[in-house]
Amino acid sequence: MKNHKTNAFLSATVFCLLLTFLTSSLAFSQATAALTSFQPGGKWLDTEGNHIDSHGGNIIYVEDTETYYWYGERRGTPRGAACYSSKDLYNWENEGIVLEKGEIEVFERPKVIYDELNKNYVMWFHYDNSKYLTAELGVATSDSPTGPFVVQNHYRPNGHESRDIGMYVEPDTKKAYIGYAADHINKTIRMAELSDDYLETTAKDVDIEAHCEGPGILKKDGKFYLLTSGCSGWTPNPATYYTADDIMGPYTKHGNPFVGDAGNNSFNSQPCFIFKIPGYKDAYLYMGDRWNGGGKPDSEYVFLPITITEKGGMEIHWHNKWDLSMFTPEKK
Ligand code: DGJ
Repeated sequence: MKNHKTNAFLSATVFCLLLTFLTSSLAFSQATAALTSFQPGGKWLDTEGNHIDSHGGNIIYVEDTETYYWYGERRGTPRGAACYSSKDLYNWENEGIVLEKGEIEVFERPKVIYDELNKNYVMWFHYDNSKYLTAELGVATSDSPTGPFVVQNHYRPNGHESRDIGMYVEPDTKKAYIGYAADHINKTIRMAELSDDYLETTAKDVDIEAHCEGPGILKKDGKFYLLTSGCSGWTPNPATYYTADDIMGPYTKHGNPFVGDAGNNSFNSQPCFIFKIPGYKDAYLYMGDRWNGGGKPDSEYVFLPITITEKGGMEIHWHNKWDLSMFTPEKK
């Protein structure tokens, strides 16, 4: 009887161990299976198998180390700016929180650019109180892409309220610009030129006459494209794009670039940035947030290719799954 009990106990233990081994190796293989495509709106896990928590941000490419860095709002705890690194834009390693928001009530839409002259990583962001009435730009710096970033200043640019931001750096001149949802309440987008060290906004600051949020900027063949969402909080809405021959305008308003967007809600996303992928011709990556109505840490991402048509129109088409082979590599 005793032997029978011992045998049953041993078999149960072996079974449990086997189960633990199988589930942990399955979890391990899921966490480490390399991704080879973008799957817009889908589950997107980092290399440790955790949901990527990096919203409303941007991507930069650091040539020296041939590494992409993705910055965004870490909406989980602790809150602040998240940073992930990648070699291929599909697989992202968590570099941790690079700026803890601390006392800042609302920290949103961080964008990082690199000042080559001073070897400084500069992060601009939306600095606000919980009622969104402080409405300022914040700026932080770090000498490393993975932080820590230290807040240097926060203020209303040229006296204007500022909320959502987009950024653009001119590749030849290295001049940087911030497009910001300005005035009350996000009445218009203004475009401001930054100082040469990227640490201040200058008095070159113009009204684009666009009532919108989520600005993203790209340039193709000398023409600037400004992509924006409407203003409806965390709820998606139809996007609009504008074009201009000069980044400071004047801009011409066009329609919604999301083609076949049945819900008329930008494929259930809101723009946060347009990343020009280096090494490919005209490879513009639409980065959008799927806020699911609430801006939660587990909000998803909608990354899609942006097409500029032969007639100069902007189009964004839906793909369940896509990869960089869609673009033509540039000759070195
Ligand atoms: C829309 C903005 O685009 C988001 O960044 C956030 O500020 C929400 N509004 C808050 O309602």
